[in-house]
Amino acid sequence: SEWSTNRYSPLLLPYPMFSLINLFAPFLNPSRQPAIQQQPYLLNTETRSKRSSSLTQLASNMASSPPLLIRGGIVVNDDEMLKADVLVENGLIKAVGPNLEAPAGVQIVDATGKLVMPGGIDPHTHMQLPFMGEVAVDDFEKGTQAAVAGGTTMIIDFVIPSKDSTPLKAYKQWREWADPKVCCDYALSMAITTWSDSVAKEMEIVTGDEYGINSFKFFLAYKGVFMVRDEEFYQGMIQCAKVGALARVHAENGSVIEEKAKELLAKGITGPEGHTQSRPEELEAEATNRACVLASQANCPLYVVHVMSKGAARAIAHHRQKGAVIFGEPIAAGLATDGSHYYNKDWLHAARYVLSPPLSRDSSTPNALMDLLAAGELHLTATDNCTFNCQQKLAGKDDFTKIPNGVNGVEDRMSVVWEKGVHSGKIDPMRFVAITSSVAAKIFNCYPRKGRIAVGSDADVVVWDPEAARIISKDTHHHAVDFNIFEGMEVHGVADVTISRGKIVWEKGQLRTVTGSGRFVPLNPWSPTVFATIAQRAKMTQPRGVQREEPKDVSKGVEKLSVNTKSSRPPGGFSNISFS
Ligand code: URP
Ligand code: ZN
Ligand code: ZN
Repeated sequence: SEWSTNRYSPLLLPYPMFSLINLFAPFLNPSRQPAIQQQPYLLNTETRSKRSSSLTQLASNMASSPPLLIRGGIVVNDDEMLKADVLVENGLIKAVGPNLEAPAGVQIVDATGKLVMPGGIDPHTHMQLPFMGEVAVDDFEKGTQAAVAGGTTMIIDFVIPSKDSTPLKAYKQWREWADPKVCCDYALSMAITTWSDSVAKEMEIVTGDEYGINSFKFFLAYKGVFMVRDEEFYQGMIQCAKVGALARVHAENGSVIEEKAKELLAKGITGPEGHTQSRPEELEAEATNRACVLASQANCPLYVVHVMSKGAARAIAHHRQKGAVIFGEPIAAGLATDGSHYYNKDWLHAARYVLSPPLSRDSSTPNALMDLLAAGELHLTATDNCTFNCQQKLAGKDDFTKIPNGVNGVEDRMSVVWEKGVHSGKIDPMRFVAITSSVAAKIFNCYPRKGRIAVGSDADVVVWDPEAARIISKDTHHHAVDFNIFEGMEVHGVADVTISRGKIVWEKGQLRTVTGSGRFVPLNPWSPTVFATIAQRAKMTQPRGVQREEPKDVSKGVEKLSVNTKSSRPPGGFSNISFS
């Protein structure tokens, strides 16, 4: 199938023997291709085809659903818009083109006046996460129902081992929770919450075939719970780079936050306003900068989750300008709301918005984050969907540090991004597809199976009505949670029909999901989008020793001190790339 042949082979770096000639050789002489067979990317080609054939098998098991012909719409990918029909059979896209013939028994989906786009991919969710003494109420069923109602057809959820668990145990637990419940496809990312040789080993294991993890998240917040120390984070990133996994980071300064929270509580500030005051934006910017510096030191690609402030975004842009491989992910909450809610007189209102890092205290931040997405300085959108009911938020009634952190987003992200991005005139529908779907598929190495309307891709499709509008409300949403942080917001751009692996799961305001019908999508390591420069960077920055003669015997004194004022060049010359 299309994705089982490596479409990126010209960029497969023959580590450790990379050279520019090798880089361009496949273009110059295709017969040289086998010379780069030693590459991690290519070693995965076989795995990749094994996985895709088993997924094709799964798709053929779904043959019972009728073929669909999505007719009369405009197909939008991240690099094209064209008037075309889309034929879907056995869970896959079978044909894309003008005026396709309708095979016998086909169900027609009328997309006249609508856009036909790859279903959204939300790369950051926490369904039914046990956290701060509570369990998030959107479980894998309600959470994925909410997702498809908003046009999202795949989520990437986080396995988060508690400090006394292990990556393998936690992985098993998450699969047991998710597999019977998911109503659309899902994949997993994993948090690393402690550090030891056995954790390093298990990181290697879970990036293998049967587990399908290709990213690890490190928390620099939640001290004593999930937080890792800088040296653990650094070692973890070295291991990520070794196994071809992307490092992801929750960037805040957990130690200083803890001190500031104590100071505020001692002053009698116990309400949700203490949450934002104990977490000044500078601490997010500081930790983001630190994470970028440490990632460069470890020569590891980095993905900063929930970028909430201008300072954090600025740090990412700064390091990217210096050549670092860093991706920045703002979330729906940060694009559409701000931190003024923490000062609401109604305690419950304020508590509903508690998440970390907090919403920005600067009311111009949501628009600025959207501008950065438009400009390509931030790269994709997520939600961090992690919902707690009002009753659960009340756990922090007398102490803001005990308010369970997290908000909704998975249902409304697509509409919020359309409203703030396309409806406002900042981005076009192709960029919308990029930041809601294709970039995530590329980063997490499942493109073009996901994230593209193309023959052979999974039929995860949203028929999007750009003209329709709706008012977001807890009364009409599909989450389990009893409030919605976007309550009352009018959004243009609505998911008219959502198709997951060739089946209609949302149509004209009605869910048609089957619990447990979603599939786990194993993600391969060595994503080219993430790793294609890393081997060469390793070469350019490798430490170099200096060849010296044996020191002279100085026990009888030194005759004449010779001082060489010229600096000596290391063998191979200096690199002109600055990574720090
Ligand atoms: O407040 C948040 N963000 N809750 C979910 C856990 C996390 O930090 O991602
Ligand atoms: Zn986080
Ligand atoms: Zn999160």
